[in-house]
Amino acid sequence: MANLPTHHDAIILGAGGAGLMCAAVAGQRGRNVLLIDHADEPGKKILISGGGRCNFTNIGTSPDRYLSQNRHFAKSALSRYTAADFIALVDRHGIDWHEKTLGQLFCDGSARQIVDMLLAECPEQAVTMSFGKAITDISHSDGRYRVEYGGETAFAPSLVIATGGPSIPKMGATGFAYDLARKFGLKIVEPRPALVPLTLGGEETLFRSLSGVSAPVTARCGKTAFREAALFTHKGLSGPAILQISSYWQHGESVEIDFLPDLQSDWLSQAKKQLPRLSLKKAINAHLPTRLTETLIERIALEGELGNLTDKKLDEAARRLSHWRFMPNGTEGFAKAEVTAGGISTAEISSKNMEAGQVPGLYAIGEAVDVTGWLGGYNFQWAWASGHAAGKAI
Ligand code: FDA
Repeated sequence: MANLPTHHDAIILGAGGAGLMCAAVAGQRGRNVLLIDHADEPGKKILISGGGRCNFTNIGTSPDRYLSQNRHFAKSALSRYTAADFIALVDRHGIDWHEKTLGQLFCDGSARQIVDMLLAECPEQAVTMSFGKAITDISHSDGRYRVEYGGETAFAPSLVIATGGPSIPKMGATGFAYDLARKFGLKIVEPRPALVPLTLGGEETLFRSLSGVSAPVTARCGKTAFREAALFTHKGLSGPAILQISSYWQHGESVEIDFLPDLQSDWLSQAKKQLPRLSLKKAINAHLPTRLTETLIERIALEGELGNLTDKKLDEAARRLSHWRFMPNGTEGFAKAEVTAGGISTAEISSKNMEAGQVPGLYAIGEAVDVTGWLGGYNFQWAWASGHAAGKAI
């Protein structure tokens, strides 16, 4: 015999950071919520995040650290649920944390503490959870959404899309949010892998031999620059500076690396005055790893003692080291992307409560939406803030 349909105030699809926060906030308002995820447990990306310690927010959170077609969109939700609000929640649950670098906050213990905290925040009498059952159909009529999942049927006047983006498909990530949004007539900003390693081809495959070598650099694409570490890989470039710049990079663009961001443009000709017998290789190697130095020197095609080289040549070499242009031929794709840029267009949803203007009762939150944060806890802060905004409204 078929199960009887259940009736709720809201159905939330996806029990990641955004969906869990939304369920907790709505449940605490006494709303009857059904939270459905096809994975066998909630918050799988939280569990693997930050190397298992979850970089759960960034104290430097501000709207200019997010990419979106509408750069103002994230302001409202981020200002109404801040990093300080999430830290207060973490503190209330007695979870110890530390700042690693650049405002990035991590659990001292394990990411599991964040998932357990969010589950504990969902009042049992208000929030029903279903894991491990596939959603097979969704429809809308007479002001109610109907969701079929694992042989069950549920109805609610509000439906929240919180199923994230397609990055890391092997963890159960899908493009489900986009299919569903399209079904209800919402526009999608072309999704693309972000916070993702870049690949090098052609002549630049030479750099692949440096796999494992890293250096503190400034990586620049257009007007955007990040000063962090870059890492050479067997496919191309990675490390925080590259992951950050990858979100801004488009096919056909170059990425400029300043390998010596602390040095003046005439540092080599100045060094020549002090140490004319010093070799160019040793001068560069004083600042960069040996293998990297050797590869760069080979490409610059200049060698010998500084005293035997003209200032013009030295300044030109210094300029190349500070403006090294790579032409990535692609990225490592959604399989390796920490997040997805693009998604459900912000033009379709209210920045106040995340509801789709044209489709009453339909909400979209978290990574499914065209809002993408920098590396360093910004994406979770968006998940919490957008989940909170919708949780207050449903
Ligand atoms: P999220 O993807 O977390 O959740 C979506 C949920 O929907 C999942 O539980 C999924 O199973 C479910 N789902 C998908 N399709 C479905 C379907 N068809 N039916 C039912 N359920 C479905 N960010 C950060 O700020 N700090 C960090 O330390 C890290 N670290 C990190 C490491 C790695 C390896 C990755 C891949 C990503 C990060 N991130 C991060 C990014 C961060 O994980 C991401 O931005 C948030 O998890 C997004 O939260 P959402 O809830 O929107 O989606």
